[in-house]
Amino acid sequence: MSITFSPDSRTFYLDGKGVTYAFCINEYGYAEHLYYGSAIGHDDLRAMRMLGATSYRTTPPGRDLNTSSSYGDINSYHHFPSELSFFGTGDFREPALMLTHENGDRLAELLYVGHEILPEKPRITGMPSLRGSETLVVHLGDAVNGFGCDLYYTVYDDCGVIARRAVYRNGTDHTVMLDRAYSFSFSLPRNDYELISLWGTWAKERHVERTPMHHGVFTVDSKRTTSSATLNPFIAVVDPDTTEQAGSAYGVSLIYSSSYALKVEGTSDGQTLVTGGINDLDFRWKLGAGEVFETPEVMLAYSAEGIGGMSRALHDAMRSHLIPPARVHQPRPIVINNWEATYFNFDNDKLKAIAQAVAGTGIDTFVLDDGWFGNRNSDRTGLGDWFVNTEKLEGGLSTIIAYVNSLGMKFGLWFEPEMVSEDSELFRAHPDYAIAAPDRARCYGRHQFMLDLTRAEVRDYIVDAVNKVLHENHIEYVKWDYNRNVTESYSIGRPADQQAEFAHRYALGVYDLCERIVNANPDIFFEGCASGGARFDPAMLAYFPQIWTSDDTDAEERTYIQYGTSMAYPLSAMSCHVSVVPNHQTRRVTPIETRADIAHLGATGYELDTSAFTDEDRARTAAQVEAYKAMEQLVLEGDLWRTEDPHTSNYFGFMIVSKDKTDALLTAYRRMGSVNNEVKHLRVAGLDADKTYRVSGFEGTFRGSTLMQIGLPAKLPKGDFLTATYRFTAVD
Ligand code: GLA
Repeated sequence: MSITFSPDSRTFYLDGKGVTYAFCINEYGYAEHLYYGSAIGHDDLRAMRMLGATSYRTTPPGRDLNTSSSYGDINSYHHFPSELSFFGTGDFREPALMLTHENGDRLAELLYVGHEILPEKPRITGMPSLRGSETLVVHLGDAVNGFGCDLYYTVYDDCGVIARRAVYRNGTDHTVMLDRAYSFSFSLPRNDYELISLWGTWAKERHVERTPMHHGVFTVDSKRTTSSATLNPFIAVVDPDTTEQAGSAYGVSLIYSSSYALKVEGTSDGQTLVTGGINDLDFRWKLGAGEVFETPEVMLAYSAEGIGGMSRALHDAMRSHLIPPARVHQPRPIVINNWEATYFNFDNDKLKAIAQAVAGTGIDTFVLDDGWFGNRNSDRTGLGDWFVNTEKLEGGLSTIIAYVNSLGMKFGLWFEPEMVSEDSELFRAHPDYAIAAPDRARCYGRHQFMLDLTRAEVRDYIVDAVNKVLHENHIEYVKWDYNRNVTESYSIGRPADQQAEFAHRYALGVYDLCERIVNANPDIFFEGCASGGARFDPAMLAYFPQIWTSDDTDAEERTYIQYGTSMAYPLSAMSCHVSVVPNHQTRRVTPIETRADIAHLGATGYELDTSAFTDEDRARTAAQVEAYKAMEQLVLEGDLWRTEDPHTSNYFGFMIVSKDKTDALLTAYRRMGSVNNEVKHLRVAGLDADKTYRVSGFEGTFRGSTLMQIGLPAKLPKGDFLTATYRFTAVD
């Protein structure tokens, strides 16, 4: 890993694991992107510059076309591949920065002022970002008024990811309104790429969509004050012939949990501009003289080993530099959660029966989901009243906690800290805590309102109320839920000219809560959740090592959801439960073995009414948990190779390979069986070609090269929705 500056060519070379990212300060002082891709040497790249066609040029201020230039007559900001595109001054592409000065001036011309290489990576104030060390900071400034921008770059020697962000500095003597403050931009040569995004909705999160790019702007975004299930804050830019295992793939993943936009613009001069950050649709930030605005960080991942390689780079970055280090490699709690077993209808006896039935099976944590507090007997009441409902739970939480602990299990509890029900003591006492716009009635979402996390006193209430429960009870696990979107983007805590700061301030409020609840209780394991996976983003992973992937626990549907989620997130981030059939969301019936095999491809758990378990059910569950324990290290630390794509075939396949390639597991799934099934050779990937492996279920040993060339003939019986697992063990 290194950051090098070549003074002669004024070029920065950022060398990470397998990647080089290069840009120069060109003769106008513009930070001009030169190259991003597989590792290359430090040649002078200026002769190879990506300069677009020259029509309609508008030369930078004071530089007419006749000005002699080593750049020939191509001297327009519009045609320079960009590290930070700004509005006006002849650049007609998507700007990363738009602002308004006191005098109404909305232009910017940010040119090189200097740079420094810091030995330690500075973290963003109040927002999660990657850990790291050596960091390049390039200072850009507008000579007209002193407005500035610092571009931060960090590279890593253990993953092909570059962390980037921008910090805007108001060095003027007046207040500036930031109308758009994106985190980055970079350019790629050509504009014939394909784009991969992860779309979804409730119970259908992160399905993969691949589409050719086009001239003009392609956007993935959220307008919901959360990262949302609609489109994940991730996009991949790949060559048209890039496959899962080969070809160029760039991944862009924003570490942010509020409204965002990621844009890919195909320009008529043959380039592609990639930019994005906080969504400016609902954003205007008042930046006083001397103040700075820190933007969220983006992870840029590159791999020449296809889409799978890009995913593995992101997985490594998140596991090594984002997820809490104390948690990332630690075996996860294996939970029994009562939600689908009882919904709101439970008492101590029912909960005890559910827990007792699985004691001794290896399930080690009982999680009491929604409904334990206030007058919460349906989803219409009680949110915000974080004190136990003793009518339901006689003796308070301590009775059920003591019972669960006596079974040798840990106790976990559900909260939805950011919300309030209209029918709650909190709302009756503090109606003003709920977000509302002046003179307007509030929208309901799941019958509830949202608390104004932009206000310190509201956050203080939440922190005190939640921490009180956590401190007074022996709670070792928390599920932090979030079940609706902001609809009235307004805070009574801000003046009129700062209302468009709401969406970003809400995210800062969430991170503040996480600091003061999650990080302040390091002995408690926290899992994120949002109506399933509606806030499954890298920033949340900085607090929650795993996130509930989807309320849809049907194994068939989960093959799509988990496949898509793995594009941008490691398996260990995905919380996956074995649930009952017919499935509560789809009514589909799948075999229990299939449900377990698919749930085991993440942080596994159980969510069904176990109180009626037979001895046979118990024995089967114990065997499943034992099987999971035997593969858990692979789930936590292994490299993922997606071998069969359920979006385009009748199969789903995940192969997880240990870093040293001595151990691997292939889980294969066939959706529909049929009479006279074709002979299916399952793809095998990621092994060491020169090692020899034993494969469970097969006689003899095989070279890695043989296995990866021939694959494995699937051993699947007749029937629908079936799985098979194969373990590969290196014998030399
Ligand atoms: C959300 C979650 C579920 C469950 C319910 C409780 O929908 O995704 O897992 O916790 O809330 O109300």
